Amino acid sequence: MTVRYDFSGKTAVVTGGARGIGRAAAERFRAGGANVFAWDLDPVPHEGVGSIAVDVTRTADVAAAVKEVIAGTGRIDILVTSVGLGGPRGPLDRLEEEEWNTVLAVNLTGVYQVVRAVLPQMRRIGRGRIVTVASLAAKEGRRGLAAYSAASAGVVALTKSLGKELAATDIRVNCVAPAAIDTEVVRAMEPAVIEAMIDRSPMKRLGTTAEAADLIAWLASDACSFNAGAVFDLSGGQASY
Ligand SMILES: NC(=O)c1ccc[n+]([C@@H]2O[C@H](COP(=O)([O-])OP(=O)(O)OC[C@H]3O[C@@H](n4cnc5c(N)ncnc54)[C@H](O)[C@@H]3O)[C@@H](O)[C@H]2O)c1
Repeated sequence: MTVRYDFSGKTAVVTGGARGIGRAAAERFRAGGANVFAWDLDPVPHEGVGSIAVDVTRTADVAAAVKEVIAGTGRIDILVTSVGLGGPRGPLDRLEEEEWNTVLAVNLTGVYQVVRAVLPQMRRIGRGRIVTVASLAAKEGRRGLAAYSAASAGVVALTKSLGKELAATDIRVNCVAPAAIDTEVVRAMEPAVIEAMIDRSPMKRLGTTAEAADLIAWLASDACSFNAGAVFDLSGGQASY
């Protein structure tokens, strides 16, 4: 059963909103009556959702996208950050500096860029909900994915800090840390890698984007009122602390 929240009159921005978890979240906000904008490097048409081409690592792109949304609806109530590159798999000592820098720039600094640009709009209207999408890799560390795991841990720490900074306002900042979710990017992996993910799961399956959207929708709703800087695992029982 899907719980429906009333997002009418609200404006939601979802980075990485063209695909995967971000797309499912954008759809959920649209269904709840919000004006929704998907900011994505590679936008795809999505009925009822405004698509804006944005590279989250580029300050100018992000500033222009904020301007476009404000010109359209005058406000930003909800921000979901759902951009994440896995980067090359392999031992850390074989990871090139440029590869490390790219993963950190997109997955961690990209969150900082977007939050920094959107937050003044939430302060102006005196309310807001920010949901960052990190990964269970932040807590556990994934062998062969040190840059991804480190960037994700950075997103968790950023969320905890910002959640505390804003706790006395009506701006709530929380994080979702999923294990493997059934998205295009996961389906494109080697079958053995997918099997290993399923094998690690006590539920012996991948999560769905609908399950991710359910949690994100609650965290973005007014019903989420007493959580700040919290990290919510979405792991089918895999997370053990
Ligand atoms: N799918 C999973 O199994 C899984 C598990 C744990 C965490 N996550 C996290 O969830 C988030 C979303 O993952 P997903 O699987 O839905 O991803 P996805 O690859 O399906 O979608 C990500 C979107 O981000 C966009 N994007 C990439 N680089 C960008 C940039 N520089 N600027 C703007 N947009 C950019 C892509 O075009 C794509 O549309 C990521 O942070 C990921 O790390 C995913």
